[in-house]
Amino acid sequence: MTDDLSNADRAKYAAAKAALAFVQPDMRVGLGTGSTAAWFVQLLGGLVNNEGLKIVGVPTSNRTRDLADSLNIPLTTLDAAGWLDVTIDGADEFDTHLNLIKGGGGALLQEKIVARASDQMVVISDASKQVDTLGAFPLPIEVVQFGWKTTQQMVSELIAAADVAARDITLREDNGKAYVTDEGHFILDLHLNRIGAPHELGRALNLIPGVVETGLFTEMADTVLVGYGDGMVHTYDRDQGDMGKSSVHMPSKNSLFVPGA
Ligand code: A5P
Repeated sequence: MTDDLSNADRAKYAAAKAALAFVQPDMRVGLGTGSTAAWFVQLLGGLVNNEGLKIVGVPTSNRTRDLADSLNIPLTTLDAAGWLDVTIDGADEFDTHLNLIKGGGGALLQEKIVARASDQMVVISDASKQVDTLGAFPLPIEVVQFGWKTTQQMVSELIAAADVAARDITLREDNGKAYVTDEGHFILDLHLNRIGAPHELGRALNLIPGVVETGLFTEMADTVLVGYGDGMVHTYDRDQGDMGKSSVHMPSKNSLFVPGA
């Protein structure tokens, strides 16, 4: 298996595998969205089905729900679970303070609600997402469809005075039409290049009527696991800082989802 994958996919796999250590029996687990989180869901499905791990998952998107369903991972809703033990999710960027940009996959709203309702948020990533300062990746913000152009204008006026390096805003599209989130909203992508004060920008954007949520996840991630193609995983912890590298076992060809591989 992992022989057939790109180095980036091997790195995502390594981070996802390391995240399994954060899941204990009987936990309520938030399941993130995106290609890295999908590796985690696959691996979790292996433990549930082949090793009898008993957990219940709360997915952060329809995509993740469908994937987890297809793997027979027991699922519930956030309302039924009430509170979660841990959420494992990917990110589009993370900085040295473990602030994140998320929402490249359009699921930022449910992702943020689920992460906030968790004792612990563990981010899984490859090294390409590690930055000194957030902002090279366009910042997604979710906005209600009603009056979205007016909302965009207010966002534009806000970022005109913000500590950022560029100020373009684009409406996210999918096959020539406005992209619509699982919650029925649009996404504006803010091309800022550098976000000098992410926490402040996130708070200010959230005050604009029509803005539902932003992809700035500040003071939320507890741990970031950065995987590498050779199976090394670098751990960064919000309290303990750089915790160094360890390695996970990378399975050989065709044994990707074999238990214990
Ligand atoms: C989904 O909305 C996002 O927040 C993803 O978690 C993020 O885009 C990372 O996705 P990849 O793991 O596919 O890079």
